[in-house]
This record gives sequence, structure tokens and C-alpha cells, in this order.
Amino acid sequence: MTKVLEPVVAMMIAMDRNKLVGRGGQMPWHIPGEMAYFKSVTMGKPIIMGRKTYDSIGRPLPGRPNIVATRNSDWTADCVHVATGLDDALTKATIPKALIKQGHRDILRLSDARMPGTPYGACVLHLAPESYIGGPLALLKTGDIIRLDLPARKLDMLVDEEEMTRCRAAWTPPAPRFARGWGWMYSRHVTQADKGCDFDFLEPDFGKTAG
Ligand SMILES: NC(=O)c1ccc[n+]([C@@H]2O[C@H](COP(=O)([O-])OP(=O)(O)OC[C@H]3O[C@@H](n4cnc5c(N)ncnc54)[C@H](OP(=O)(O)O)[C@@H]3O)[C@@H](O)[C@H]2O)c1
Repeated sequence: MTKVLEPVVAMMIAMDRNKLVGRGGQMPWHIPGEMAYFKSVTMGKPIIMGRKTYDSIGRPLPGRPNIVATRNSDWTADCVHVATGLDDALTKATIPKALIKQGHRDILRLSDARMPGTPYGACVLHLAPESYIGGPLALLKTGDIIRLDLPARKLDMLVDEEEMTRCRAAWTPPAPRFARGWGWMYSRHVTQADKGCDFDFLEPDFGKTAG
């Protein structure tokens, strides 16, 4: 079932008496203190803007997840979330209202991959070993509880050992995606995130012959 998101959104706009908001791709005026005010209101919150506004700023706004809407699927920018439309942007910016009503302000996300840009909220990325080779995420099931202990820098799956052993025994590796070429070399030789995601054959000891 698709979850309906009801985000809490605020819109900020500055306009002159004639409802002018921009000119030539830039702000039509420079009012001392205006940007500082904008910063104080938006700091720490996800911020959604159109691609042209982003271009007029020319860099991600610091301290805020930047979400940029564009219809151009090739468009990217460092440290920016790209959204294909308003719904996508809102999904990337918020969590379901039902959870907000329960007092939650965040969802912990775990991934063995990376996330482009600066995602809103708590996330732990680059979990290793990755699920593709049977790492912990491959053994998780819906409803399993995970505990994140930040001071101890510890992440625990609260699943009993017997169950974990059963899951480990039942796990089967996915079919390899590549039989040759770059994909094959990458899957075979790039190390896990905790080892630096580098080619193993670049390590000094790789392939050393005896004597
Ligand atoms: N006064 C203010 O408060 C204020 C605030 C912000 C900006 N501005 C000014 O406003 C001007 C820019 O505003 P603008 O309205 O021309 O541009 P904008 O809304 O910042 O950007 C328009 C672009 O956003 C993308 N976009 C818009 N709607 C979309 C949708 N539904 N789905 C996917 N992508 C979507 C498209 O990008 P693609 O072309 O890449 O597909 C579109 O060309 C600048 O002059 C800026 O300085 C003023």
C-alpha cells in the first residue's frame, strides 16, 4: 500500500509591491539582513527549490539538506538531493505525518550504499559487509529491531542468535550481474566500505609471489 505523505511545509517568498520576485535569474534587490533572516528561519531544515533558484545561488546552502527540483534526469550537483517533482521533493524532505503526530521527528535509515547529497535526518551508510555478499542487512526481515548506540558507536540487530543462524543458512547469494568486463572486475576486486572501496589489486601485498 502506498503511504500518503502529509508534510508540514512552509513557503518563504520575498516580493515587491508589483509581486516581482526575480529578475534575470537573480534576486532583483539586495537588502542587508534579508539573507541572514532567511538563514535563521531555514537553518537545519530541508529546503526545496527549483533548479533555476539553485543555479542563481550557485552552491548548496550550508546546514540544510538542499532538495532541487528539475525535470532534467541528467542534472546533478554535489551535496544536493535531486527531485523529479514536488511530490518527490516532499518525500525526500519529510517523514509521514502519522509519525510526526506520535512525536517522531526522524526515521533512522540504514544502507550498505551511499546516499547522494546530504539527506535529511539520521542515516547510517556504507554498512559492511554489504548485503550483496551476505552482510547483516541481507539477514534482516520486516519487523526486526535494530538498536543504534551513538556514544558506543554500535549498531545491533536485536535478533536472537538462533534466528540469525537460521537466516544465515537460508541466505543464497544473488546471481552475479556481470560475467565479464568492468562490472565483473568491479564486483570481484573492489573492497568493502570498511576497507576503503578500493581495488584489492592496488594493495602492496596483492599477488605477491613466494620468494
Ligand atoms: N524573491 C524570492 O523570495 C525568491 C526566492 C527564490 C528565487 N527567487 C528568484 O526567482 C528566480 C527563479 O525562479 P523561477 O521560478 O524562474 O525558477 P525556479 O522555480 O527556481 O526553477 C525553475 C526550474 O525548476 C524546475 N522545476 C520547476 N517545477 C518543477 C516540477 N514541478 N517538477 C520538476 N522540476 C521542476 C525546472 O528545472 P529544469 O529546467 O532543470 O527542468 C524549472 O525550469 C531567480 O531570479 C531567483 O533569484 C526569488
